[in-house]
Amino acid sequence: MPRAIKSVKGTRDFLPPETRLWAAVEETARRVFGTYGYEEIRTPVLEETDLFVRSVGESTDIVGKEMYTFLDKKGRSLTLRPESTASVVRAFVQHGLANQPLPAKLFYIGPQFRYERPQKGRYRQFHQIGAELIGDPGPETDAELLLMLLRFLGELGFRDLLVQLNTVGDDQSRAAYREGLRSFLEPHRDELGEDSRRRLDSNPLRILDTKNPEERELLREAPELAEFLSQESREHFEGLRRALDRFGVAYEIEPRLVRGLDYYTRTVFEIISEGLGAQDAIVGGGRYDGLVAELGGPELPGIGFAIGEDRLIEVLPEQFSRAVAGSEPIVVVPVGEVAAVEALELAERLRGAGLAVIAELSGRSVKAALKKADRSGARLAILIGDDELGKGLVTLRDLKAADQFTVPRADLVARVEEML
Ligand code: HAM
Repeated sequence: MPRAIKSVKGTRDFLPPETRLWAAVEETARRVFGTYGYEEIRTPVLEETDLFVRSVGESTDIVGKEMYTFLDKKGRSLTLRPESTASVVRAFVQHGLANQPLPAKLFYIGPQFRYERPQKGRYRQFHQIGAELIGDPGPETDAELLLMLLRFLGELGFRDLLVQLNTVGDDQSRAAYREGLRSFLEPHRDELGEDSRRRLDSNPLRILDTKNPEERELLREAPELAEFLSQESREHFEGLRRALDRFGVAYEIEPRLVRGLDYYTRTVFEIISEGLGAQDAIVGGGRYDGLVAELGGPELPGIGFAIGEDRLIEVLPEQFSRAVAGSEPIVVVPVGEVAAVEALELAERLRGAGLAVIAELSGRSVKAALKKADRSGARLAILIGDDELGKGLVTLRDLKAADQFTVPRADLVARVEEML
């Protein structure tokens, strides 16, 4: 027997009825983001490797360890996107969107790829719903982006979410902090693992991403970024906090939050959800004021976020899941010798009126057909037999009430609509 082929490790199939939930979440995102003036952008899954090296950064875990990178047939290094901010900014630059009215407000929904060890809430193909705003320096813009994100999550039924907020400052602030961190860690070089020793030379900020418990202990005593902030960065952060306070947004300042990607400047944030275990961030985002220029575009600031859709769906409030529990189809069943095509004819008529209908065409017995209809959650069955056919009638059966009656064929659509 030939071997059955399975999906690749860390990737998943999404089957109905779960796909309904994904579609409903995505529709909600489109609708809510639309009310803030965002429009969809779709970029390729495949990019030049260099795009992520230059934006996410060489010394990050993502670029250093997690990318699906390969050479194509012409020897070009390509990468399956591990995130989409870099792609959106590349497209913004490539298509000269800076010449259109700014800020550009773009959202995206799609798969991302990271070669990580799969576990609950962590996959190698995962999905993000993200938004990027390019061309506005904030801080009111930062607040508006967070309000949009929270409105979306609120519409899904999430309550009492806490935004973890920090600022990583501008280039100057971060350069000063890098030196501060280096001076603090240099005397402990021997206690650091290989990765962190390398980062001590290349980019000490990335040591803060470490998951090694001893290194984390050591870092508890490390200086905090806040001590190195420039006046301007401080004012930006205060402006954002004032705006969030005004709208009653609950946030917590998380002085150690630096996010694991190099492009961030100033505002950074995450939203954590209980119930996900170790992989508990459902959203990550922040400002990237140098990235557009870094990728060859004009000097324009940017800010955005990405929601981990897989994780979001794992902790989706029940009320939302219940609300998308699906429609109750109508089932049309031929009885006795009646040709299946008669059932199909009735089904087509009902579909023409916009109703969801399953036509029973497989020749199973009426009893088996009704049992299957009941199991699929159908409310209404329409039976057509020789008897009815001759008299121009059909039988309507309410599967929940187990009650049935005949109606003239010509009245079928109207009667069904009445009953639903
Ligand atoms: P990120 O924090 O790397 O940021 O990813 C954002 C979210 O994607 C995470 O909070 C998490 O929910 C989800 N995620 C990441 N990796 C995985 C995985 N292996 N399995 C399941 N979910 C995962 C970014 O990607 C930035 N581009 C966000 C951004 C947009 N910043 C500015 N604009």
